[in-house]
Amino acid sequence: MPRTSAQKNARPIRSTARKSRRPNGPTGPAAEYEIEALSGLEAVAQEELGTVPGARDIRAGRFWFPGDPGRLTRLKGSVAVYRIKTFDVPRPKALLGHQQLGDLAAFLRPVIAYGGHQSFRLSAAGRESATMRRLAEELETSLGIPHHPEEGELLIRLRPTENPNRIPEPPDPAQEKREEWRTAPDDARKGRRTAQGRFPRRGEVQETWEGEEAPEEEVPAPEPRFETGWDVLARLTPRPLSARAWRVCNMAGGMNATIAYAVFKLAGLRDSDRIFNPMSGSGTLLIERDLMGPSMALVGVDTDSDAVACAQRNIEAAKRTIEVAQVDALNTGLPPRSFDLIVADLPWGDAITVRGGNEALYTGFLKEMHRLCSRQGRMVVLTHELRLFERLIAEQDRWHAHELFQVYSGGHHPKAYLLNRV
Ligand SMILES: C[S@@+](CC[C@H](N)C(=O)[O-])C[C@H]1O[C@@H](n2cnc3c(N)ncnc32)[C@H](O)[C@@H]1O
Repeated sequence: MPRTSAQKNARPIRSTARKSRRPNGPTGPAAEYEIEALSGLEAVAQEELGTVPGARDIRAGRFWFPGDPGRLTRLKGSVAVYRIKTFDVPRPKALLGHQQLGDLAAFLRPVIAYGGHQSFRLSAAGRESATMRRLAEELETSLGIPHHPEEGELLIRLRPTENPNRIPEPPDPAQEKREEWRTAPDDARKGRRTAQGRFPRRGEVQETWEGEEAPEEEVPAPEPRFETGWDVLARLTPRPLSARAWRVCNMAGGMNATIAYAVFKLAGLRDSDRIFNPMSGSGTLLIERDLMGPSMALVGVDTDSDAVACAQRNIEAAKRTIEVAQVDALNTGLPPRSFDLIVADLPWGDAITVRGGNEALYTGFLKEMHRLCSRQGRMVVLTHELRLFERLIAEQDRWHAHELFQVYSGGHHPKAYLLNRV
């Protein structure tokens, strides 16, 4: 199946030995953090953050939190959580100064002590630049862990501070020229001009406020003071939060677990729900739902024996008891109105196994799920086949449907729909 990008979040589980190295951390007085959510699921992630006791001054995903950051690493709707600090520097190069470098290392060390990261990597515009290379070298020395540009466990992100009052500092063309020359690879020094190695421009505004003479009566109010700065974000955990510890088996098409969390948050959690997950794949929806609270019944089916075995391995790793069977979702033989909530991540692309392709499968699915759904029941469908699904919904009269969210995950843009029986 094509959704291989979701696999990125399924990495090997960390050894318990590393967990035991976590007694010290950025605990004590409040520290500033930021959560990261999949695009399209920010509101769900922020709502969950709002329920964390002690989290305060929440502005978008950024907030202050006192005490044990372990509470933050239990967030289910966020892909990652970072410690964040704004450095009062006009450009990353200034982080190489003695004082700033010391502050940067002091900021990062407690994160490493907490997460047990064994290596680090930098993520920033121009991360191949000479400045970034030097910063990596300096950090290797001061942090005592190696720099692995691709696989480094401590993800350190650098970005200009987002401050609505901030006026980007106009680039100094002379300085830029010098820096470009110093950092450019050899072929550029030999006369071939290249932008490689140069840190990107931070604003294109200088021509609008330099060299223009305003008429006397239109003299503008004094410009506000420049507010510049760079945020440094350090991911608390070596792996993304969405790479769940229970995932010991992955399969192409495995869903990012934060999407499963959002599906159930928006569909509603009821202890009395009898829940059916046709086309359950590696079991993401089943396991995430079971971890969110009790339900009256929770059953998954899939036609693929490998998928069923994969789901069973994950369920065992999650220490849950959930029934998954190798059964065709369109021919379960179950009595009508067996379920109150049906959640389905429909196959798409090459995964279609039904004669007649997507259209036949989706049509049969809508009909059979209507039979299996209780009168007051509801269904959430996640699909990439947006046009087909919306056309089929428009052509039938069994279900009312509305869009719940569209998520951007690893280059794919599936939508989730909530359906109620007519
Ligand atoms: C998109 S994947 C589901 C992925 C799943 N959400 C996960 O996280 O691993 C779709 C699944 O539907 C299954 N499938 C396709 N047709 C089916 C059918 N008629 N009945 C049951 N399962 C089916 C495929 O074998 C595949 O595992």
